[in-house]
Amino acid sequence: MLDVGGGPGVYAEWLAGLGYAVHVVDPVPLHVEQAASLPGVTAALGDARALTEDEASYDVVLALGPLYHLIDRVDRVRAWREFGRVVVPGGLVAAAVISRFAGLNDGLRKDLIRDPSFAAVVDADLSDGKHRNDLDVPDRFTTAYFHHPDELAGEVADAGLSLYGVLAVECTAWLVGTLPLLLDDPVRRELLLSWLRRIEAEPTLLGASSHLLVLASR
Ligand SMILES: C[S@@+](CC[C@H](N)C(=O)[O-])C[C@H]1O[C@@H](n2cnc3c(N)ncnc32)[C@H](O)[C@@H]1O
Repeated sequence: MLDVGGGPGVYAEWLAGLGYAVHVVDPVPLHVEQAASLPGVTAALGDARALTEDEASYDVVLALGPLYHLIDRVDRVRAWREFGRVVVPGGLVAAAVISRFAGLNDGLRKDLIRDPSFAAVVDADLSDGKHRNDLDVPDRFTTAYFHHPDELAGEVADAGLSLYGVLAVECTAWLVGTLPLLLDDPVRRELLLSWLRRIEAEPTLLGASSHLLVLASR
């Protein structure tokens, strides 16, 4: 598996523990150093838009990070194209994006909108998906791109890939104040997870999830 934007290797470590051969690519030297120190994981510096990996050299490509760091569509399509180039025909590309409405929901949930500068960020998110942290406020999310669920199919198609589906990672569960209680109780946790599995591909709820998982193939 190729883990593009794998960071310090949280998922790479888990996958290597399951027996997969995982190579991490990330533009941050500290992340590469940390990922490379994990058992069964190799890592190298790189950029999703210009991978140095050979064509069709991986069964699975994970991109659980790069796409929301690429603000311009042309860069995201370039990255998708690269994921498609390095994966084997029929292999899986799984990429994470952030929902257009994540800032709005988080702002309401935590009452961050008391701060007019945060309210301005939410306004910008809703206008064009470009989430700005121009003030470099330390506890705020970085400048990023927040996708509208409806634009994912076009981005994937423009890169020459086939879309399998879009899944909500948290769906509405992250908005629920009682989430810690639900997760702590094995019975309610199982019920919650079974409902989330039933609604994870529900198109009318996709935007409510803070993260979406996009599944595609070459
Ligand atoms: C929020 S972190 C996610 C890390 C990891 N995938 C995870 O889920 O724990 C986003 C990662 O994307 C990386 N990244 C940012 N721009 C990138 C690019 N152009 N190409 C590849 N990775 C990039 C960052 O360095 C960072 O490690």
